[in-house]
Amino acid sequence: MTQIANELSFSLQPNENPKSVAERDAILANPGFGDYFTDHTAVVDFKVDADGNGGWSNARVEPYGPIAMDPAAAVLHYGQEIFEGMKAYRHADGSIWTFRAEANAARLNSSARRLALPELPESTFLESLRQLVSIDRNWVPSQDGEALYLRPFMIATEAFLGVRPAREVSYRVIASPAGNYFGGELKPVSIWLTTTYARAGAGGTGEAKCGGNYAASLAAQMEAEAQGCKQVLFLDPFNDNAVEELGGMNIFFVFKDGTLVTPELNGHILHGITRSSVMQLAADRGLKVEERKITIDEWRDGVAAGDITEVFACGTAAVITPIGELKTADGVIASPAHGIGPVTAAIREQLLGIQTGTVEDLHGWLTRLA
Ligand code: PLP
Ligand code: COI
Repeated sequence: MTQIANELSFSLQPNENPKSVAERDAILANPGFGDYFTDHTAVVDFKVDADGNGGWSNARVEPYGPIAMDPAAAVLHYGQEIFEGMKAYRHADGSIWTFRAEANAARLNSSARRLALPELPESTFLESLRQLVSIDRNWVPSQDGEALYLRPFMIATEAFLGVRPAREVSYRVIASPAGNYFGGELKPVSIWLTTTYARAGAGGTGEAKCGGNYAASLAAQMEAEAQGCKQVLFLDPFNDNAVEELGGMNIFFVFKDGTLVTPELNGHILHGITRSSVMQLAADRGLKVEERKITIDEWRDGVAAGDITEVFACGTAAVITPIGELKTADGVIASPAHGIGPVTAAIREQLLGIQTGTVEDLHGWLTRLA
């Protein structure tokens, strides 16, 4: 299939029944995570024509609402779907910015290649965010630690039950005001170690951000919740006891000499954009950063010996959240730091400061949306 590239401009159909100011204010007073959506959505369609040429068209912003889809749409049967997660932050002067959007555009396209979906030009991706956030700018929260979570996604809409890449696809963006992913104030979370389930395997889709990975994590997440834990930790699929990542976050260990260690990208871990930003900010502080294999035994022994001093999870939704304890079938590995450790706190503050415009953006990570 040849993909035809052309610059798209978005048409705008405003929502005639937006939420009232009072309704919106009530939501923004306590947004939680993922429960409420703004008044609009951005959409771009993709189609392969009879000559086998594929192209994006009909870029638009329209009222938020249900998607009409044929019951035979491929996404409903074979899960041909990918998504991204990013945030829009309100700065003190009222301007609205997003963080490392080019990295999200690149990751969307790398997921698209893995799921045999069409790539979306970076310029269309960025424009879809600008268009949506401009019209829904009043939905961007301004409280500390809050932001407008942006969820770009791509689904196979062609009605066809044969198993092959769909020739009709829809790219969309929805937006949801967001506070702390784990609810309430920032506090350490408990994690459950699953040894029943793996999240991904060699040659699988672990590196792609596709819905199927999250569906596959839910049984393990239910195990975690039954153990009173908020997230599940997956090990590598080779029975090596090596730590990979949480259901929706990457993981870091802080050692007593200040070294940060995070599992290496091995083909089945998501290339977290927060992960790469934490590595850069740590290096900027003169800390040593290692991407390498780290096992549960090293975690347990390192905490017991006082060599590992802090453990934290990171991701767009979670920002940087300290890990309290790790519960395993063999017992608990307690939190080395009580509460949020000093390295975790410093990197978290710096990252949030860059995102919200109170700390200088030395790496050019911000893009203005509105
Ligand atoms: N790992 C998984 C499985 C995720 O779902 C996420 C969240 O997007 C991350 C890691 C962190 O990625 P990022 O920092 O790009 O949000
Ligand atoms: C994100 O952080 O953007 C994610 O996609 C993770 C998900 C658990 C909300």
